[in-house]
Amino acid sequence: MATIIDGKAVAGALRKSLKAEIESLKAAGITPGLAVVLVGGDPASKVYVGSKEKACAELGMHSERYNLKEETAMGELLALIGKLSKDDKIHGILVQLPLPRHLDEKTVLEAIPAHKDVDAFHPENVGRIMIGDYRFLPCTPAGVMELILSTGVSIEGRECVVVGRSNIVGKPMAMLLLHKSGTVTVCHSKTKNLGEVTRRADILVAAVGRAKFITADMIKPGAVVIDVGMNRDENGKLCGDVDFESALPFAGYITPVPGGVGPMTIAMLMKNTVAAAKAAAKQL
Ligand code: GUN
Repeated sequence: MATIIDGKAVAGALRKSLKAEIESLKAAGITPGLAVVLVGGDPASKVYVGSKEKACAELGMHSERYNLKEETAMGELLALIGKLSKDDKIHGILVQLPLPRHLDEKTVLEAIPAHKDVDAFHPENVGRIMIGDYRFLPCTPAGVMELILSTGVSIEGRECVVVGRSNIVGKPMAMLLLHKSGTVTVCHSKTKNLGEVTRRADILVAAVGRAKFITADMIKPGAVVIDVGMNRDENGKLCGDVDFESALPFAGYITPVPGGVGPMTIAMLMKNTVAAAKAAAKQL
């Protein structure tokens, strides 16, 4: 029977240490500040943005939320990013994705100055991740790394399989595991005999966005299974990419959904914002 990895507890410990760090920064006159921009009314995005705002408040950070209407023109969004870029109270700028279809994501992400890009989605930061010279770690993959670390299972020399190749999760995830000397395989929709590949994994990260896609027969007994998915099942209940109930007897460690990767992503965003504030203070 697998040990369930408690993402809330791991994130709680991280937030506690961040809170102490924020208090000492504030005593030195620096309050880390995050601006979150939401365009349109996507219900899931509203929930995520709300959680980010709440996390800032709990840690005593400054946060600003901008709700722009669905029809917002590119010029208007870029003008807001430009204004936030020059605002010294704001150390991190996050534009929630996905954007409405008429807005070009690439143009928007490139408009955020790399030193305020706490998502690490700007091409400069993506390039830094590739060569291991990080300014910010991308929040979700960084959170996954902390969860793996919490199990005490070492990554070095282990078979690591990432299912999913998105720019937000799959690709940077593979890179972080590689930097820890894992033997990394990235699977995707065109992968042949997926189960054969995933069954090799000592560490399996599922980031496909399909409810209960990874079933027990695809898991190596004793593996560390990290579920990045956030889906609704046939009854509308929140579930991950892994069929949790069936995987539980086989995995060595497994994250639940909710309460696994989600809280870590937010904690890592706070960590990046604090790092951005510290870097800005050094420039003064
Ligand atoms: N949409 C889903 N995940 C993320 C994230 O980590 N950052 C942003 N900006 N948008 C997202």
